[in-house]
Amino acid sequence: MLSEVLLVSAPGKVILHGEHAVVHGKVALAVALNLRTFLRLQPHSNGKVDLSLPNIGIKWAWDVARLQLLDTSFLEQGDATTPTPELVEKLKEVAGLPDDCAVTESLAVLAFLYLYLSICRKQRALPSLDIVVWSELPHGAGLGSSAAYSVCLAAALLTVCEEIPNPLKDGDRVNRWTKEDLELINNWAFQGERVIHGNPSGVDNAVSTWGGALRYQQGKISSLKRPPALQILLTNTKVPRNTRTLVAGVRNRLLKFPEIVAPLLTSIDAISLECERVLGEMGEAPAPEQYLVLEELIDMNQHHLNALGVGHASLDQLCQVTRARGLHSKLTGAGGGGCGITLLKPGLEQPEVEATKQALTSCGFDCWETSIGAPGVSIHSATSLDSRVQQALDGL
Ligand code: MEV
Repeated sequence: MLSEVLLVSAPGKVILHGEHAVVHGKVALAVALNLRTFLRLQPHSNGKVDLSLPNIGIKWAWDVARLQLLDTSFLEQGDATTPTPELVEKLKEVAGLPDDCAVTESLAVLAFLYLYLSICRKQRALPSLDIVVWSELPHGAGLGSSAAYSVCLAAALLTVCEEIPNPLKDGDRVNRWTKEDLELINNWAFQGERVIHGNPSGVDNAVSTWGGALRYQQGKISSLKRPPALQILLTNTKVPRNTRTLVAGVRNRLLKFPEIVAPLLTSIDAISLECERVLGEMGEAPAPEQYLVLEELIDMNQHHLNALGVGHASLDQLCQVTRARGLHSKLTGAGGGGCGITLLKPGLEQPEVEATKQALTSCGFDCWETSIGAPGVSIHSATSLDSRVQQALDGL
């Protein structure tokens, strides 16, 4: 087992098109966001496993000796195994979670224990570790914060247990793992996501692992070739919602009205494919007509998502405010509140962008301008920190 401090980060994501439809085997187009989750892992020798999540005020500690004595044969040794509901129930006993534990806290703790026990049980003795995870991503807003959490945990635990090598060489500030290692990280992170979300499609952890811009369908991932550097306005309505419940709601609607809902999913699939085609043609000098197509696709998908039952009054307000300024928006992620994206056309004057941000902020929303296509999971030097990681550490 490695004895050095590991610093890992992974990005959040926005889905351009295909949320919800992707759960039913359709295509999603997703891009990594320039907002990241960070994890610091320090091996220690006090016989404890400590987990701190300062963003949500969580601090947990377990005795390694107690965890070592537990019968964890319910976690099959070897490859990433699917966390069944029975397994999650067993993990709850292991965790010793109080009955009144908040849902977010209990799911974060269960995903951690699942990954720690499954990945580290190959070691002769379970390791004593101090782990802190913090994030620039708002939690529960559809930006893939739970996936970035699972990806960071999987990458750090696999590295400390030497299941994958530490790619950081002397003098590196930051580096990434090989394709094979990223595949392993992604597989384990997907299982962590399953503990948290029940039946996720896997798109969030894939984007967080690989970064850039991806097409995702039924576990098959491919990078978009030369995607244009789109500028978007990201708006957090701050309306809380639960991905698991929203995904279940769409499934129920599909079961209740198959002839109505299945064509909606097929149409969303076609929107994703058309968007992929247009992005592929845009290259470095996009034409105004291509932006017009992207805007039409955004509008159509937003209406479909409303018909699936995952809209919200706050998202309608976002669409109206931006529409009044000639801009087009849709929800991103699970919907029901959370976040939306607005496409910023080239040539839009900065005062107009600022005025739109102001109008959205006065609705009570958080709003920021961002570019898309950030690098996926990365490992940072703990001794020569870049300023962003240093800032994040200072903020702890
Ligand atoms: C959540 O970011 C995206 C959904 O499609 C769920 C999933 O893909 O697991 C709503």
